[in-house]
Amino acid sequence: MISTTPLHGLLALADERHLGRAAQASRMSPAELAQALQALEAEYGHALLRTSAPPAERGQRFEGFTPQGERVLAWARGFLAQSEALRSELQASRTEAALAPLLERRSVSPKRLRPPAPTAEHIDAMLQAALRAPDHGGLHPWRVIDFREAQRAALADRFEAEKLRRDPLASASDRRRAREHATRPPALLAFVVVPRARSKVPAREQWLAAGAALGNLLNAAHQLGFGAIVLSGERCFDPVLASELGVRPEEFLAGFVSLGSVAEAPPARDHTLPGEVWSAWAPPREHLVPHAGDAGRPSP
Ligand SMILES: Cc1cc2nc3c(=O)[nH]c(=O)nc-3n(C[C@H](O)[C@H](O)[C@H](O)COP(=O)(O)O)c2cc1C
Repeated sequence: MISTTPLHGLLALADERHLGRAAQASRMSPAELAQALQALEAEYGHALLRTSAPPAERGQRFEGFTPQGERVLAWARGFLAQSEALRSELQASRTEAALAPLLERRSVSPKRLRPPAPTAEHIDAMLQAALRAPDHGGLHPWRVIDFREAQRAALADRFEAEKLRRDPLASASDRRRAREHATRPPALLAFVVVPRARSKVPAREQWLAAGAALGNLLNAAHQLGFGAIVLSGERCFDPVLASELGVRPEEFLAGFVSLGSVAEAPPARDHTLPGEVWSAWAPPREHLVPHAGDAGRPSP
C-alpha cells in the first residue's frame, strides 16, 4: 500500500509552520512526524527543512523549507490532490455499480412487453422480495391477484364493461383498448392494499409499507430481467369491478402490475436529482431556547 503519511506531514507543516501543530494536524505524534520527515529526506537525499536543531531533536523549531523541500512540497501537493480525485472517482464508480440495479430500473409500458412472461417461480421470487420491504408490525397490508392466461378474456369483459359504465358512448376503439389492458401484458397482477383495521400501526404507515412492497416487487422484476409497470387508471376506482375481482369493500385496488420480457427499452428521460428532495433541518430562530449560560451573549 502507498503510504502518503509523510506527504501529509509535509503539507501540514507547510500550513501550520510549526512542528507540534503539524503533528497534531496530521494525527501523528511529534516523534512520528520527525521520523516521517527524516524518511523523506533520506529518500530524496537532501535536507528538506530548515530547523533550528537537527530533525528528531526535542526543541527544534521549523524555520522553513530548503529549495529542495519546496520542490518536494509542490510535488506532494499535486500528488495528494490527484490521489484524492482518483480515490473519490473510484469510490463513486463502486457506489454506482452497487446501486446499478436500482438506478437503472424503469417502468416498461405494456406495449413494450412481450412473452415469455415470468414463470410462477419468478413471481414467487418477486413476492419474496416484496415481503422483505420495511413493514411496521409485519402486517403485510397488501396482496396480489394473479390473472392467468385462461381468465384474461373474462377479465377483458369486465374491463370493457367498466369502460362502458364510465362512458356509455365509448367508441369501438376505446372498448378495444380497455380489453387490451387485460389481454396484452404477458403476466398481470392486481396489487391490492389491505389496511389491517385492528392494528395499532397507523393506516398511513400501512400504506407506506404497501408502497415499499410494491417498489421491491418492481425492482425484483427488473433484477430478474423482466419489464414491469404499475398502472391504475379510473377502473381501479370502480366498486363494481373491484367487487367482481374479489376486492373487499375495506380493501383498495391500487393498480395492475404488467410483467413480461422487454421487447423495446423505454425512452430515456431525465431523473429528479436528490437536491429536490433533500434538505437539512435547523431549528427556526424563534424556537431557539437560550441556555442559562447564554444569557446576554450576542447572537452569532
Ligand atoms: C400505484 C401506481 C399507479 C400508477 N398508475 C399509473 C397510471 O394509471 N398511468 C400512468 O401513466 N402511470 C401510472 N403510474 C406511474 C408508472 O407506473 C411509472 O412509475 C411512471 O410512469 C414513472 O416511470 P418510471 O417507473 O420508469 O420512473 C402509477 C404508479 C403507481 C406506483
